Amino acid sequence: MQVKVIDHPLIQHKLSLLRDKNTGSKDFRELLEEIAMLMAYELTRNLPLEETEIETPVARCKCKVLTGKKLGVVPILRAGLGMVNGVLRLIPAAKVGHVGVYRDPETLSPVEYYCKLPTDVSERDFIVIDPMLATGGSSVATIDMLKRKGAKNIKLMCLVAAPEGVHRVNEQHPDVEIYTASVDERLNDHGYIVPGLGDAGDRIFGTK
Ligand code: URA
Repeated sequence: MQVKVIDHPLIQHKLSLLRDKNTGSKDFRELLEEIAMLMAYELTRNLPLEETEIETPVARCKCKVLTGKKLGVVPILRAGLGMVNGVLRLIPAAKVGHVGVYRDPETLSPVEYYCKLPTDVSERDFIVIDPMLATGGSSVATIDMLKRKGAKNIKLMCLVAAPEGVHRVNEQHPDVEIYTASVDERLNDHGYIVPGLGDAGDRIFGTK
């Protein structure tokens, strides 16, 4: 199983608060955004740097700055929206695409109903955001679509993953690195991650 579990204490602490069924939507949204920002720090660890010369108030010096690599962030609607602002706080220049995929409740297969991406997909590296990597169907469908449009370098950011989803993404897209805060036990018969945190979209938006 190829997956990077980000086990930073702050992330693990905040994730435990998210899992608690008594955590309400306001706190849930804030915690999710904070975790997304902390995870983005880890995902961007290898962004390329170049040297430039800067004049400080004291002297000239050679310093490192980002090369300006173009990035794209693609939240899968709707729960992915809950992590976008946290990521954008660290990489505000990233363009945001949106992909709408829902799981057919009977077949559990992904159905794409919305897609709006930056025009220059082939020039960007992408972070696909799907907080709950359950069966992996929505993530695989989104990555398939990004690759069809020319994306070459894609990472998947999720909050909680089921082993089944990790295996599926590994199998279909071995080049895509998966980052998560936890790999949980399993999926239940309704496609929910166990222990998970319930329906992420409902908890973010206060729906049922
Ligand atoms: N989507 C969710 O929001 N929660 C799960 O447990 C699985 C899929």
